[in-house]
Amino acid sequence: MAAFESTGAASLTLGGRAFTPGASRVAVLGAGVMGPGIALVFAEHGFEVELCEVRQPALDAGMASLADALDLKVQAQVCDAATARATLSRVTPRLGVAVAIARADLVVEAVPEDRDIKRAVYAQVAEVAPAHAVVWSNTSTLDVFALAPPALASRLLVAHWFAPPHILPLVEVVCQAPAPVSLREETVALLRALGKAPVVLEKFVPGFVINRLLRALGRESFDMIESGVISIAELDVAVRTSLAPRMQVLGIMQRYDYTGLHLSLRNLADPEIVDAPVNRSPALLQARVARGELGVGSGKGFYDYAGRSTLELQRERDLRLWQVMRGLAEHAADPKPI
Ligand SMILES: NC(=O)c1ccc[n+]([C@@H]2O[C@H](COP(=O)([O-])OP(=O)(O)OC[C@H]3O[C@@H](n4cnc5c(N)ncnc54)[C@H](O)[C@@H]3O)[C@@H](O)[C@H]2O)c1
Repeated sequence: MAAFESTGAASLTLGGRAFTPGASRVAVLGAGVMGPGIALVFAEHGFEVELCEVRQPALDAGMASLADALDLKVQAQVCDAATARATLSRVTPRLGVAVAIARADLVVEAVPEDRDIKRAVYAQVAEVAPAHAVVWSNTSTLDVFALAPPALASRLLVAHWFAPPHILPLVEVVCQAPAPVSLREETVALLRALGKAPVVLEKFVPGFVINRLLRALGRESFDMIESGVISIAELDVAVRTSLAPRMQVLGIMQRYDYTGLHLSLRNLADPEIVDAPVNRSPALLQARVARGELGVGSGKGFYDYAGRSTLELQRERDLRLWQVMRGLAEHAADPKPI
């Protein structure tokens, strides 16, 4: 619980009330890709968490993935075995959501990206949750503010985590009236105390910031591969050996300062460089989807994973991510401009 100790957990509040490990309760709704990792982060900082599902197999799989993520942290030497066991003991799996919502101080909504499902969940939270309970939505794209009943509107905000949520620090935070700015400030402080790197968006935009940037990169990538400029594997090598490490140090905007803004202006105006057209259905994706090559989960996507299970592949990704995060240390946890 180092992060809490260093940031003064005693002073954390949510909705104007004290929010403290051991006393405050968190209900995470949805134990799919995101819910277990988010539950893990709260639990490792001392909170009692109920991980809720509507399907028993999904609940079992979610708890197994949480336990596995903790094992991997031990293996990656970013957590000791006793801490991992204590963390796991603070997570209670629960089939059904009403009981956990009814006693939650914070509800973290990580149910599928479907308007009707989210609308129904918010209606239930408005009905069942304590009047002070705050709701964080992990939506990737939806304007959840339009889906919440008026009774919840002043207590709902977006806290958008990135997969795997227990490893990547960024959480995009979006808050809009009638929710008070104080709720956004409290959320940012809490996320920092959880060891996360919250970034505030001043207003809602579908896809938020990082997924929009990823779309722009994907657009150029698909276009250059489809038109024979570069192979899939070479493109990944190029990105991993240039953009990735430099972005870690400079982000996007400070890199312009190092390039020189006058040169950047000239480069952007170069008529010889024509941007890839917006193509919402790249042939590169269409062909693979038609063949059932959907990526890691199906054994093949842009790369071939034959004979390796999804769990094995995720573990390998997460181990490498932990190695990178350990190496980056303070640069990733608290990135500062030069
Ligand atoms: N997968 C990602 O990489 C990612 C990243 C950031 C944000 N998100 C967002 O997080 C949310 C969850 O995404 P995911 O990928 O974990 O989804 P998922 O489909 O993997 O898991 C969602 C789980 O919610 C359960 N569920 C459905 N209705 C429920 C209810 N009423 N109460 C409790 N559980 C319920 C489902 O059974 C399912 O297991 C979505 O809004 C998604 O857009 C996903």
